[in-house]
Amino acid sequence: MTDPGAFAWPPAPIGTRRLVLRESRARDRAAFVELLSSPEVGTYTGGSRPRDELERVMPEIPGRRPGIFVIERDGAMIGIIELNRRDPERRSDVPPDGGENELGYLLLPEAWGHGYAAEACTAALGWFAEAAPGRPVVLSTQTANDRSMRLAVKLGFTEVRRYEAWGAEQWFGLWSPVTPSG
Ligand SMILES: CC(C)(COP(=O)(O)OP(=O)(O)OC[C@H]1O[C@@H](n2cnc3c(N)ncnc32)[C@H](O)[C@@H]1OP(=O)(O)O)[C@@H](O)C(=O)NCCC(=O)NCCS
Repeated sequence: MTDPGAFAWPPAPIGTRRLVLRESRARDRAAFVELLSSPEVGTYTGGSRPRDELERVMPEIPGRRPGIFVIERDGAMIGIIELNRRDPERRSDVPPDGGENELGYLLLPEAWGHGYAAEACTAALGWFAEAAPGRPVVLSTQTANDRSMRLAVKLGFTEVRRYEAWGAEQWFGLWSPVTPSG
C-alpha cells in the first residue's frame, strides 16, 4: 500500500545542508539497480535481487510513488527514504495499527558513515510533521541491524515492542512530532 493519504505528493524538493530530497527521475535508474542488488544493503531487509533481473524489470522512472524520496548528494542519488502508509495486513501483529506512516531508509554502502541518512530522515520527518500534523510515524527494523538501530534512536523513535518475524528479532518504534503547546 503506498497511499500516504494525508498529504499532497510530490512536495517541492527539500534541501538540507548537504543533500536534496526529491521525487525520482529517469537518471536515477542505475542507482536504483545498484541499491536493490547490493547484498550489503539487503543484509537485514530481506536480501538483494539479481542485477540482471532488476535491469530487465525496473521501470524507466523507478520509485515514482507517493512517499518515496530520492536522496541526492552532489547531483547523484545516494539512496531513498520511504514514508508510506503502513500496510496493516502485512504487520497486523504489531500495534499501534491506525494507518500510521512508516519510515524506511536504504542508502548505497559508500554513503554510509557520513551522517547522510540522519540528515535526510530528519528533514523528511520535519516535512511530514508539517504536511500531516499529529500523524504518528512508525519504523521497524531488525535488532541485529546496528546502524539502523542507532539511526532510529537518533531520529527520536522510541521502542514500542520487539517481536519475531522473518526469522529474526524485529524492533518496532514510534516517532511522534512535538506539537507546540498553548
Ligand atoms: C541504515 C543506514 C541507512 C544507516 O546509515 P548510516 O550512514 O550508518 O547512518 P547515519 O546517517 O546516522 O550516519 C551515522 C554515522 O555517520 C558518522 N558521521 C560521519 N560524519 C558525520 C556527520 N558529519 N554528521 C553525522 N554523522 C556523521 C557517524 O559518526 C556515524 O558513524 P557510526 O555509525 O560508525 O557511529 C544504512 O546502513 C543502510 O542504508 N543500510 C541498508 C538498508 C537498511 O538496513 N535499512 C533499514 C531498514 S528500515
